[in-house]
Amino acid sequence: MLRKDINELLTQTGPGTAMGELFRQYWMPAMLAEELPENDCPPVRVKLLSERMVAFRDSEGRYGLMDEFCAHRGASLWFGRNEGSGLRCPYHGWKYDVTGQCIEVPSEADNSSFCENVKLTSYPLVKIGDLLWTYMGDPAKKPPLPEFEFAHVPAEQTYTSKRVQQCNWLQAFEGGIDSSHVTFLHSGGLKTDPLFKGAKGNEYNMKDTKPFFEVADTEGGLFVGARRNAEDGTYYWRITPWVMPNFTMVPPRGDHPVHGHFWVPIDDENCWAYSFDYHPVRALTEAERQAMIDGHGVHSKNIPGTYRTAANMDNDYLIDREAQKRGETYSGVAGIAMQDASLQESMGPIVDRTKERLVPADSGIIKARQKLRKAVVALRDEGVTPPGVNPEHHKVRSAAIVLPQAESFLDACRDAVTVQPGVRQTTV
Ligand code: FES
Ligand SMILES: [Fe+2]
Repeated sequence: MLRKDINELLTQTGPGTAMGELFRQYWMPAMLAEELPENDCPPVRVKLLSERMVAFRDSEGRYGLMDEFCAHRGASLWFGRNEGSGLRCPYHGWKYDVTGQCIEVPSEADNSSFCENVKLTSYPLVKIGDLLWTYMGDPAKKPPLPEFEFAHVPAEQTYTSKRVQQCNWLQAFEGGIDSSHVTFLHSGGLKTDPLFKGAKGNEYNMKDTKPFFEVADTEGGLFVGARRNAEDGTYYWRITPWVMPNFTMVPPRGDHPVHGHFWVPIDDENCWAYSFDYHPVRALTEAERQAMIDGHGVHSKNIPGTYRTAANMDNDYLIDREAQKRGETYSGVAGIAMQDASLQESMGPIVDRTKERLVPADSGIIKARQKLRKAVVALRDEGVTPPGVNPEHHKVRSAAIVLPQAESFLDACRDAVTVQPGVRQTTV
């Protein structure tokens, strides 16, 4: 369990909160690049860390992310006209560039310098891979750009989707490092999902329902090792990296692409799940890419034109009790992503962690909370830069491996859990 005040400390991310300050130390996914597909395309509303903003791409292809509301009388710039290298408020015509600087106030005299003193809060927006990333902290402390492997491999080797999840980011993130639920909740998917099935490792996963956890501290976060019995004298290890504060990877299965997530707070009761799949050494096949688009693996089927999932809270996630009885799905909910989301949302927007009863299989989650808390307090009280800001910390991989029982997973896997460009992932 967590004390009430610690639960609040870790779940509140708005301006002025300690956790909000922590998040504002990092580059984070703000949107998919596909949301701003061309110069002068429609602006997009973006809410992150409880701040309401608008993003746009100007006539020169520059990206901007700034306060949603016009400095004149507060109209939403989502209604703005994106034209002539700026976003113009349609109410009285004030115009802003991608830095939030006001560049025109039509009602003022031609020689007026009034607009020079008007600037909206704005943040950088940079395309790396399929994502547009932002940094919402002190410009003087802006770290170098992120180095996560999925965003840096050639475009044909990677795919990213997103969906809104109706719960606090910490609840969703905790699912991302919780290896013990796979044997139950996702047992159907291990047999049938085109992006999961067929791996030798799945057999170990299904046979041993009592994984033993060993958690290793790293400079940027944790490696959560889940150990299950394999053949005589060996163990099957699944190693899940966490890079602070909100990046997790799922251990691979066979030659399937490797997947993972960013869990980004929208506000305290909603978050974005950015879900990626990539292969370190080969292009995704057409069948794999289509499966991702169709919502298989860690991806979701969304309502067309939105990032809301088709199965959602309002339709009970299209639960199918007959499919559950037939053994096709464990919970009755179809799809790995929605199996996770349905249960995480079922806990309520911010779960009351004072009531939970943790067991040894939750040790990854316990260590992650401790590490987050320590980093939040160190930043708040002493200004210490938290783990995971340094891009060197991003160069991690998940791994799945069979090892002799006597071997320590971290000693045996140092190379396997480190990005080595052009080298295949370590997988069973
Ligand atoms: S409210 Fe935007 S120009 Fe007046
Ligand atoms: Fe899951």
